[in-house]
Amino acid sequence: MMIAFAPAALPDKGTVVVLAPAGALGPAAADLDRRTGGVVSRAIELAGAKLKRGHAIELLCPTGVGLSRLVVLGVGTPGEASRLDLEVLGGSLATKLKALGVTEASVAIDAIEGLKYGPAEFAVCLAQGAALRSYRFDKYRTRKEEGEEAEAGDEVARLTLHLADHAAAEAGWTGAAAVVDGVFQARDLVSEPANVLSPEKFAEACRALGQRLGMEIDILDPAAMRELGMNALLAVGQGSDRESRVAVMRWNGGAPDQPPVALIGKGVCFDSGGLSLKPAGGMEEMKWDMGGAGAVFGAMAALAGRKAKANVVGVLGLTENMPSGRAQRPGDVVTAMSGLTIEVVNTDAEGRLVLADVLHYAKERFKPRLMIDLATLTGAVIVALGHEQAGLFSSNEALAGEIIAAGTAVGEKVWRMPLGEDYAKHIKSDIADIKNVGRAREAGATAGAVFLERFVGDVPWAHLDIAGMAWSKRDLPLAAKGATAFGVRLLDRLIAERYES
Ligand code: BES
Ligand code: MN
Ligand code: ZN
Repeated sequence: MMIAFAPAALPDKGTVVVLAPAGALGPAAADLDRRTGGVVSRAIELAGAKLKRGHAIELLCPTGVGLSRLVVLGVGTPGEASRLDLEVLGGSLATKLKALGVTEASVAIDAIEGLKYGPAEFAVCLAQGAALRSYRFDKYRTRKEEGEEAEAGDEVARLTLHLADHAAAEAGWTGAAAVVDGVFQARDLVSEPANVLSPEKFAEACRALGQRLGMEIDILDPAAMRELGMNALLAVGQGSDRESRVAVMRWNGGAPDQPPVALIGKGVCFDSGGLSLKPAGGMEEMKWDMGGAGAVFGAMAALAGRKAKANVVGVLGLTENMPSGRAQRPGDVVTAMSGLTIEVVNTDAEGRLVLADVLHYAKERFKPRLMIDLATLTGAVIVALGHEQAGLFSSNEALAGEIIAAGTAVGEKVWRMPLGEDYAKHIKSDIADIKNVGRAREAGATAGAVFLERFVGDVPWAHLDIAGMAWSKRDLPLAAKGATAFGVRLLDRLIAERYES
């Protein structure tokens, strides 16, 4: 979707969207109402209480303005609307326009009384929500279903937002557009099937992104990983014909002496379960078992794209979990890079093996001020929280609070779940330092988290289990069904609010 900002004067053809808050119309809406002989206010009156925030009414061929349609968009009670509500409003508008078959529209951004945000900020939120909601991965659709347009592409091709201070909106859009780009980058990768997106291809995408946005990129191949002793990660990948990689992406936008924030991602490009093979039903979903790495990739794109004043390093563990004659076996013992030995009881608990080594590596190499890992780690977190919130694990109160606040602000909700020594007992092994599974049907998401905790030392750390959130089978307010890029906006917001100078 192309987003443009233009002066307040509206076009005299096509589709114009006019904003209808509960209460008095803004000046632009009042002007259109006058010029159309009062159809706007009559439509609002007839709709009554139905014209809630996000609800829209289409008025065809309104007289006096030369337009083919007016779309009256409910804004609800202005004083109650948060920025996120306004983004969601933009998402609803995109859905409505798509349903009407409108591919281009102009929005009359009004100065609405009682709204906590001025017209420029309002316009940016609306645009951002509309853009996020309009993403579609249609690379592999070569022909259209009946009734569809010949050209594939975004739902609504162009949205122009009209307001007096369009320059201010444009300035605000630069940052917002970088975040939208980051979300799309992540969705693109997560949507790719595993035959296309191998660990090596993922690493190449990191290189290309770094080149485009001015990030330093380091790729570790298996020889380099072996040298470092990343045996836990390598063991996961050893059953695959495709090589593992670790990708390091550095954005240095902060003070040179400031230690970086480290973002760590689980990038299992396909998780068959390995020799502890998953059942066939639903296995195709495991192409998005790299959603954590995808989110870190997207967050790095957003941060570099908007030139964030912070030092951030993204470290991605990229591999594929396959069964073969070379695959690791249940019962194998591996020595992680940290020196800790792990009994691999179940080869399907591979994400924690990957993260064990990348967490330790990030800690040792970058001495980060904090680490946050994102991973589609456990089915158990879906049992606990469904597809509504991600699991948050952290023993750092301040960091946990910051992550919850950032997630709430952008609509990527997280729910804090426990760690602690009682749970740490669940991963005691008879033969090695720890084992990679806990107790059957007991606190499975926490068992994964306490495992990871053994590799973070005393660096402030948080783990986000996004297994229920990386992919959605339903349309969401800011994402059509499919890859969500959950985490990109949360991480961007967290860094913007707390870690930029
Ligand atoms: N990638 C899966 C977790 C997952 C499951 C994500 C379903 C999304 C949907 C992970 O590698 C896994 O297989 N975890 C096991 C751990 C178990 C063997 C201890 C699980 O959750 O069943
Ligand atoms: Mn698995
Ligand atoms: Zn997995």
